[in-house]
Amino acid sequence: MAESMKGLRRTHRCGELSAANAGETVTVMGWVQKQRNKGGIIFVDLRDRSGIIQVIFEESECGTEAFEKAAKLRSEFVAAVVGKVARRDGAVNENLATGEIEVRAAEIRILSEAQTPPFPIEEDSKTKEELRLKYRYLDLRRPDIQKNLILRSRITAAIRSFLSEEGFLEIETPILNKSTPEGARDYLVPSRVHPGSFYALPQSPQIFKQLLMCSGYDRYYQIARCFRDEDLRADRQPEFTQVDLEMSFVTEEDVMDATERMVARVCREAIGLEVPLPLKRMTWNEAMNRFGSDKPDTRFGMELTDVSEVVKNCGFGVFTGAIQAGGSVRGICVKGQAEMPRKKIDALVEFAKGYGVKGLAYMGILPDGTYKSSFAKFMTEEELKALAEAMQAEPGDLLLFAADRLKIVWNVLGALRCELARQLDLIDNDAFHFLWVTEFPQFEWSDEEERFVAMHHPFTMPMEEDLPLLETDPGAVRARAYDIVLNGVELGGGSVRIFQDDVQERMFRALGFTDEKAHEQFGFLLDAFRYGVPPHAGLAIGLDRFVMLLVKAESIREVIAFPKVKDASCLMSECPGPVDPAQLKELCLETVSAEE
Ligand code: AMO
Ligand code: AMP
Repeated sequence: MAESMKGLRRTHRCGELSAANAGETVTVMGWVQKQRNKGGIIFVDLRDRSGIIQVIFEESECGTEAFEKAAKLRSEFVAAVVGKVARRDGAVNENLATGEIEVRAAEIRILSEAQTPPFPIEEDSKTKEELRLKYRYLDLRRPDIQKNLILRSRITAAIRSFLSEEGFLEIETPILNKSTPEGARDYLVPSRVHPGSFYALPQSPQIFKQLLMCSGYDRYYQIARCFRDEDLRADRQPEFTQVDLEMSFVTEEDVMDATERMVARVCREAIGLEVPLPLKRMTWNEAMNRFGSDKPDTRFGMELTDVSEVVKNCGFGVFTGAIQAGGSVRGICVKGQAEMPRKKIDALVEFAKGYGVKGLAYMGILPDGTYKSSFAKFMTEEELKALAEAMQAEPGDLLLFAADRLKIVWNVLGALRCELARQLDLIDNDAFHFLWVTEFPQFEWSDEEERFVAMHHPFTMPMEEDLPLLETDPGAVRARAYDIVLNGVELGGGSVRIFQDDVQERMFRALGFTDEKAHEQFGFLLDAFRYGVPPHAGLAIGLDRFVMLLVKAESIREVIAFPKVKDASCLMSECPGPVDPAQLKELCLETVSAEE
């Protein structure tokens, strides 16, 4: 039976009380974390989003009615308590922020009773994630998730105040759109008024923010929801949030400067972290060659070494074969792991195969100078020595090599070094390594589509000195694009945009668009450019990822109130789901079974 709050007003949140309130009469309201009945005295831990306060009921103080009500309290009941704050005598609880005090109850109302929850509402939950997500409204009561969402709110507040101070205008762009060119699959929304026509949910506000530059808004930002129908991973959701910005009359320097000052401000205000500016920069080429990744984790070493020259004439066919086929042989040196058990190495080989390589060659340099290797028998002593030297290996080290097309070698070794760093605990968890990666390739060859596709998007400006290569050697064209990377995660990315008709046309041609196709998709942007367009550039930060990294969460699901799981469904609301046939009829839609 629920009682009313009538006549009561909350004076404090539970966790806001401290010894400074001793002697005050307060009213607190929240959920019962725990009730312990010790006969003549009942202890109740009352919880709200700010923390927990211990409430004491003694019949002589609160009267029989209140005492009996307190005796009925169970976990997750919602209660209001009026009482006096008192210092605890002796029994200070060091684990509780409010551990020096307690509230000695005078009155209680049970505002709502509760069934026993399917899992305990506690920090560091051991509950399986599926169960937590099915009952997300209960999971969201847990202090660690509450801390994450409270921090997320502080972060967006800091971003808004920073960008507003810097003269950015917050402008909303449509959710119901034509398809955007970000390269993932669109989520489509059928139109009732135009049967057979569809809106696409935005993959990003890209085109609209460029139009806003054409319209003179100069500096735009939006904390924008984006939708991408792509395969999900720990740092990907089908709907996610970008801190999206665009600036006029600027170069990449201005965008990078504003972004890094924003990021530094957020880090200071959210977690008290001082980020030294300017951030380090690295070209894409350097990132790939040294770390095998365009989002290098620089918190540990184990950099890649190109040994193609050293092994090109050796006796090991796997190496020479790869080089003759135009590929590369590169390796990483794992310090002190020469005697890694065979089973563990085999597991690494399997891991590597997941990245497209056929195998992984290994060579442990034992303390006595002999080798434990999968390929030593194919090479002479000199060749092995030269290889170890090229790798700057010492006795006790383990060398791992991949031989294949360069792109595959980079991918394999880039992933392998991160995996090994995790396994061998080489990562300093308190370190925050920010970094800009610049000079991305303009195009990426798509084996699937058998054509070049834009690595960033079709509106990204090529580097001026590479413009002549657009027609002759597209693969070598570098873009005025930049990514901001934090601890091996792509936090955000952006570019200087093309604002000249002729360059844009050449770009579309290089991407295999016909004039008609380009106009059909982006006509209104191209038209807008004809009426006076300022040079402009911008970027978007993935807000969910940023918060995830700042709170050191394993997945962005931990910083999103109602996330979806791997198959893009919501375990709580069970969306997506079927709809009423009448709804389909109205939309002139019919479904066919997936097998057809
Ligand atoms: P991009 O596609 O690189 O750029 O996206 C920018 C940032 O958004 C985040 N992000 C995601 N976060 C969670 N789940 C996802 N599925 C997901 N996809 C992307 C990443 C990424 O770095 N319009 C351009 C930006 C620009 O050029 O201004 C864009 O969307 O952190
Ligand atoms: P094989 O000749 O296929 O028996 O391979 C000999 C050794 O080379 C084994 O240790 C394989 O794991 C390794 N190996 C095979 N393919 C590659 C490759 N592409 N890169 C590096 N090592 C490889």
